[in-house]
Amino acid sequence: MSTPLLVAMAQRKMSTSLIVSMALIWAMLFWGSNGQLTATFYATTCPNVSAIVRGVISNELQSDARITASLLRLHFHDCFVDGCDASVLLDNSTTIVSEKGAIPNAGSLRRFDAVDSIKTAVESACPGVVSCADILAIAAEASVNLSGGPSWNVLLGRRDSTTANFNLANTALPAPFENLTILIAKFAAQGLDTTDLVALSGGHTFGRAQCSSFIGRLYNFNNSGSPDPTLNTTYLATLRQRCPQNGDQTVLANFDPRTPDGFDNAYFSNLQTLEGLLQSDQELFSTSGAATVAIVNSFSSNQNTFFQNFATSMIKMGNISPLTGTNGQIRTDCKRVNGR
Ligand code: HEM
Ligand SMILES: *[C@@H]1O[C@H](CO)[C@@H](O)[C@H](O)[C@H]1NC(C)=O
Ligand SMILES: *[C@@H]1O[C@H](CO)[C@@H](O)[C@H](O)[C@H]1NC(C)=O
Ligand SMILES: *[C@@H]1O[C@H](CO)[C@@H](O)[C@H](O)[C@H]1NC(C)=O
Ligand SMILES: *[C@@H]1O[C@H](CO)[C@@H](O)[C@H](O)[C@H]1NC(C)=O
Ligand SMILES: *[C@@H]1O[C@H](CO)[C@@H](O)[C@H](O)[C@H]1NC(C)=O
Ligand SMILES: *[C@@H]1O[C@H](CO)[C@@H](O)[C@H](O)[C@H]1NC(C)=O
Repeated sequence: MSTPLLVAMAQRKMSTSLIVSMALIWAMLFWGSNGQLTATFYATTCPNVSAIVRGVISNELQSDARITASLLRLHFHDCFVDGCDASVLLDNSTTIVSEKGAIPNAGSLRRFDAVDSIKTAVESACPGVVSCADILAIAAEASVNLSGGPSWNVLLGRRDSTTANFNLANTALPAPFENLTILIAKFAAQGLDTTDLVALSGGHTFGRAQCSSFIGRLYNFNNSGSPDPTLNTTYLATLRQRCPQNGDQTVLANFDPRTPDGFDNAYFSNLQTLEGLLQSDQELFSTSGAATVAIVNSFSSNQNTFFQNFATSMIKMGNISPLTGTNGQIRTDCKRVNGR
């Protein structure tokens, strides 16, 4: 073989491997900006974002003991409707039918004003950088931790939607009167398994629900003429006092009668004493033969096990279909699509 030919072959081989490796690097960069969230996303562009978010919530906590629960719920209701893209924050406009009007949200989701305050504080430190969807994810972690719960590394890099999905908000979110089969199916549709369902339901260890969310259990459960048989009779009497028949349906009850504002594993021991507030809560423990029963018992007996599972499941929920890279936008005002 002549020397020039060998050189030419070697060159060709090298350029092929160069192209391959460059393509690989390019692909990794491309994937990195499309689909993958990272804990360090704002490390150079807004390094203090988590402290800023936590600071605002910490201040608000002084006048509203419920704010941490309300912010955790906002992130959940965002993620279950077309992914964690801050769609839940959009108001009605010429192009938007707000998810705020959907049945699971209307008259129930609260503290959108606090999200706006957080956004203002973040914008003044790092203008145009942090998405409203990431603010909800950071606020959920800060809220749980400020209430005595676990901490986790929040993955970031979500961008904000330019659309909302009113109809999906009505169908994808679980309802308080749904049975375990439906609850498992709705979580599975989001890529969340039965352990995630039980762990995340532990979010009901703080916050409040309106009488309308559980009065169906108190007097005439499923037209049976009697209350829900899986409801502790002492607790039933307390709830009936709070929510009389034909009374004000917007009156609030604590999810956790023992430690109403603390994030702990009391939710699970409440289920064991038949003191779950919603039917959907009690289903996890009172559905005979269900796989969820052993998980409830394990979370009830060991708070660390619950905390670890909750953190893992929150990261999983936070990963539902984010907009990343050049998809979506960084909204200036969380309530509106930019320029509209
Ligand atoms: C498993 C299915 C679930 C159902 C059926 C459900 C249903 C509900 C209902 C009906 C309320 C009370 C609304 C009202 O009366 O105004 C509520 C409140 C709440 N939910 Fe859920 N939820 C579920 C899962 C979750 C998850 C996964 C989380 C978070 C990880 C969560 C966090 C909360 C919190 C913190 C509150 C209290 C909010 C406040 O006080 O402002 N829920 N939920
Ligand atoms: C980060 O934000 C917190 C809360 O606003 C503030 O107390 C702290 O001084 C900030 N740190 C830096 C380095 O800017
Ligand atoms: C948004 O507008 C629709 C009518 O197009 C209305 O039914 C709904 O209540 C409004 N939602 C909110 C949150 O104001
Ligand atoms: C909050 O998170 C920190 C870690 O950032 C952790 O050390 C602390 O124990 C958490 N708070 C509670 C009450 O668990
Ligand atoms: C659960 O609810 C659905 C819808 O109401 C119903 O079709 C199904 O039979 C119920 N399953 C159980 C086990 O109660
Ligand atoms: C009551 O109705 C709910 C909702 O359809 C269902 O999930 C549950 O199994 C019913 N319970 C009884 C005791 O019939
Ligand atoms: C009802 O609740 C009380 C108070 O927590 C508890 O002592 C009792 O064991 C509960 N009843 C049942 C059947 O779990």
